Amino acid sequence: MSVRSVLHMGHPLLLQRAQPIVHVHEPWLPALLQDLRDTMQALDGAGLAAPQIGESVQLVIFGGDFNVRYPDAPPIPPTVLINPVLTPLSDEKELGWEGCLSLPGLRGLVPRYRHLRYQGWDENGTPIDRAVSGFHARVVQHECDHLLGILYPMRMPDLTHFGYQQALFPGQSGADGD
Ligand code: NI
Repeated sequence: MSVRSVLHMGHPLLLQRAQPIVHVHEPWLPALLQDLRDTMQALDGAGLAAPQIGESVQLVIFGGDFNVRYPDAPPIPPTVLINPVLTPLSDEKELGWEGCLSLPGLRGLVPRYRHLRYQGWDENGTPIDRAVSGFHARVVQHECDHLLGILYPMRMPDLTHFGYQQALFPGQSGADGD
C-alpha cells in the first residue's frame, strides 16, 4: 500500500496508550497492516508498532528475514500481534542495545526480561501463545511498550549508555531503526 512517515519522540501520540482492537476482521485492518509492513521493510526495522505511524491501536509487527542492523541476532518468525499480553517467565533481566525508528540515529542500553510469554492474536484471529528468550523477548517487549506509550529511554536506568550510534560505535555501518 504505502510507506508511511514514522512519528518521532516528542510527538504526543507516542506517549498514549493504544486502544484494543475489538474485532480482528475490522475492514481497515488489512490496509493498516500492509502499511506497517511496507514501512518496516523500507526502513529496515526489526519491528514496528501501529502508534508509530499515527494509529493508536494495539497492533505490532516484528520479525522476518535476516536484519541488516542485527546481523548476529537469531531469526524471529514474521509475526503480527494484536492486543498483546506479556508475562515475564522469571525475574531475570539482561541489558542489550536497542534502537527505534522513532529515535533515528540513537541507541541505548536497555534492561529487558530474558524469558517472556506473549499472547495475542494474528490478523486471522488465530491465537498466538509463545514462550521466548533473549533477542526475541527483547523485540516483543520493545514493540509492546509502544502500545503503552513507553519509549525505550524511559526504561533506561543509566542514561550514560544512551547516544548517537555513530558516536557510540564508530565505524559500524547500518541504518537506524527499531
Ligand atoms: Ni521502537
